[in-house]
Amino acid sequence: MRHLHTPHNRLRPWQRRATDACGALLLLTGAVWLALHYGRGDELPLSAEAWALRLHGAAAFAALFMLGVLAAAHVPHGWRATARGRGRPQRRWGLLLCGLAALLAASAYALYYFAPDNVRPALGGAHSAAGAAMALALWAHRRAGRRSLPS
Ligand code: HEM
Ligand code: HEM
Repeated sequence: MRHLHTPHNRLRPWQRRATDACGALLLLTGAVWLALHYGRGDELPLSAEAWALRLHGAAAFAALFMLGVLAAAHVPHGWRATARGRGRPQRRWGLLLCGLAALLAASAYALYYFAPDNVRPALGGAHSAAGAAMALALWAHRRAGRRSLPS
């Protein structure tokens, strides 16, 4: 069980591809929705806007499934592998990723089931900011992984 004793905790290629695809689709559909919604004054809602959110919702379900996949092995193995030494930054970025994922899921639930019209824009803004932060944290987490590899 080499990965328990070194910082190595690579994802399987399908897991990395699926996580990347979900993240890219969430960012893209979120950004398209923002551009359509805030970029066109007071006209009636466009069906393109509705379709952007439908796709966003589909990608969100897949992303939550992938977070579950990572929670089963990647997170606990990574946690043990980064207890000391060069893996520490990886652990901090990983923790941040878990926290942001929880914020995204909680704000998404509130957006879907509760958000009254007066809090919706602020909640949507916070949700989108957490999404953008997650993309940056994932990049940093990955970079930290490459750096902790022996040269
Ligand atoms: C406390 C939580 C976490 C810890 C301790 C952790 C630990 C690690 C470690 C040690 C690596 C380096 C792998 C290597 O270079 O061999 C890594 C890579 C990676 N982690 Fe995490 N991780 C955590 C959470 C997450 C989460 C929540 C995600 C996704 C949302 C994630 C996505 C990735 C990705 C995409 C890589 C690059 C893997 C590759 O290139 O194959 N990690 N993680
Ligand atoms: C695990 C990650 C994510 C989940 C589970 C998620 C889920 C959701 C859900 C359920 C909604 C409400 C849809 C509706 O009202 O019909 C939503 C709205 C939205 N999401 Fe996400 N999302 C995630 C990531 C992202 C990311 C990365 C962005 C990046 C820009 C983003 C931007 C938005 C925007 C702009 C809205 C519309 C806000 C509003 O209605 O005011 N989301 N998301």
